[in-house]
Amino acid sequence: MFVIHTINELQDELRQRRQANQSIALVPTMGNLHQGHLQLVSTAQQHAEAVVVTLFVNPTQFSENEDLDNYPRTFQDDCQKLELLNTDILFAPSIDEIYPLGGENTSHVHVPNITDVLCGASRPGHFDGVTTIVCKLFNMTRADVAIFGEKDFQQLAVIHRMVDDLNIPIRIIGEPIVREADGLAMSSRNGYLSKEERLLAPRLHQILQYIKQLILAGEVDFNAIESQAKIDLIEAGFKPDYLHIYQRNELKPATKGSKELIIIVAAVLGSTRLIDNIHVDCT
Ligand code: PAF
Repeated sequence: MFVIHTINELQDELRQRRQANQSIALVPTMGNLHQGHLQLVSTAQQHAEAVVVTLFVNPTQFSENEDLDNYPRTFQDDCQKLELLNTDILFAPSIDEIYPLGGENTSHVHVPNITDVLCGASRPGHFDGVTTIVCKLFNMTRADVAIFGEKDFQQLAVIHRMVDDLNIPIRIIGEPIVREADGLAMSSRNGYLSKEERLLAPRLHQILQYIKQLILAGEVDFNAIESQAKIDLIEAGFKPDYLHIYQRNELKPATKGSKELIIIVAAVLGSTRLIDNIHVDCT
């Protein structure tokens, strides 16, 4: 695996790959890799000859009161995992390499409307940070395809919208959530949970599954389901941020006739914010 820290080196390497007619897949990450990330890499390998994993804890997507300094950094461990998968290139730039003028003085990409709801409502500016870094990575690599996890479903939707709006020539693939044996969606943030919280955490997925069964059984009073689910979350020890039943393609509230739904949740357990979602296909 080539471990590259500068944009120039990355672009030189990718130029050679393109000259050798290799297609390029991009897997953007913030490191602290778990099985969910490794699944993204495996999928990338099925779609292109050369896979670039990026590892960059992007400061512009964290607000001041968020956990940027404490975000887990496990570079050696991440390298080993990627080596084992025969990853071609790991791009791990410094903050100065990416934002030589500082994040605040750098042009940014803003995707309107869809970023105002859900996580965007509780984390103002977060998605501007995400779309800016992702757009920069698309431009640096000129990858043919990029893979993102569906756990961050809103992030995936925002990236799709950015690519459509700005005519970025790249194919975006969403990878289904990878879960622990007890149903908890894999996330770097799970490492923040205490032992007791870790035992409670799978309730999040269980509540989503319960709602899915209600909908499949014909329940259509979505407001009532959402209200009850928030009570269930509180009783299970969470502080709910949001729980919504949305139309999957539009990320707008579902209505009686909506067929392709997503139940999407963010809730805090102790001091850890967890997100999850589940698809529901009504016939
Ligand atoms: O999902 C993530 O890990 C990050 O938001 C991403 C896409 C790597 C951008 O920093």
